[in-house]
Amino acid sequence: MGMGKMITFEGGEGSGKSTQMAFLARSLERAGVDVLTTREPGGTEGAEQIRALLVHGAVDRWPPMSEALMHFAARVDHLEQNILPALDGNTWVLCDRFTDSTLAYQGGGHGLGLDEISVLQQLAIGTFRPDLTFVFDIGVEEGLARAFGRVGSEDRYERMDVDFHRRIRETFLQVARNEPERCVVIDAARGIEEVQQAVRNTVADRFGLDLGADRP
Ligand SMILES: Nc1ncnc2c1ncn2[C@@H]1O[C@H](COP(=O)(O)OP(=O)(O)O)[C@@H](O)[C@H]1O
Ligand SMILES: [Mg+2]
Repeated sequence: MGMGKMITFEGGEGSGKSTQMAFLARSLERAGVDVLTTREPGGTEGAEQIRALLVHGAVDRWPPMSEALMHFAARVDHLEQNILPALDGNTWVLCDRFTDSTLAYQGGGHGLGLDEISVLQQLAIGTFRPDLTFVFDIGVEEGLARAFGRVGSEDRYERMDVDFHRRIRETFLQVARNEPERCVVIDAARGIEEVQQAVRNTVADRFGLDLGADRP
């Protein structure tokens, strides 16, 4: 395994993952770190094609297991072609969603179960795990209200019912309890600047970096 670190951004719709990942990328770059920002599903040409199948169209177009398998199909391609080579080249990888989203959405939301998704995880990516995972936690209605204010049509998951999103929130929190060394839960209902500070301080402490501004 390479010398770069992988940090993933997890949480429900509208929890601020994409916003905060962009801020952290700039903080790391200012500190002289080589950064690759990427996302799931997607991150390679083939995986982006799979993404289109997952984020557009009728909410019930796929059986849950088909969804899970497509997420892992995309993930293996992304990991092998993009993430692992970057880490080997001492580049830090910031990824907007990763396996925890499959645990939460397909395992929790659709009810396939964490054990079943963990089996797929083992088959697909073995023991590979991010070095640090942020779980952005926010009330389901508040998050969805933020997400619906955003432009774009990649909304197939957003259109699933509110109970689906409640199960997702609970499952993310369960995953964080299961892996407390890797996962840091962030109260994402706070203002952008406050959340940014919490993210930056966590990364600075965890990896011994000086990320400048707003250190207490
Ligand atoms: N802490 C925050 N407070 C208020 N609005 C926010 C906050 N973080 C993000 N937003 C806004 O909410 C919307 C969703 O944020 P985004 O980063 O796209 O969430 P996600 O990637 O988790 O779905 C965007 O319009 C963004 O500007
Ligand atoms: Mg996003």
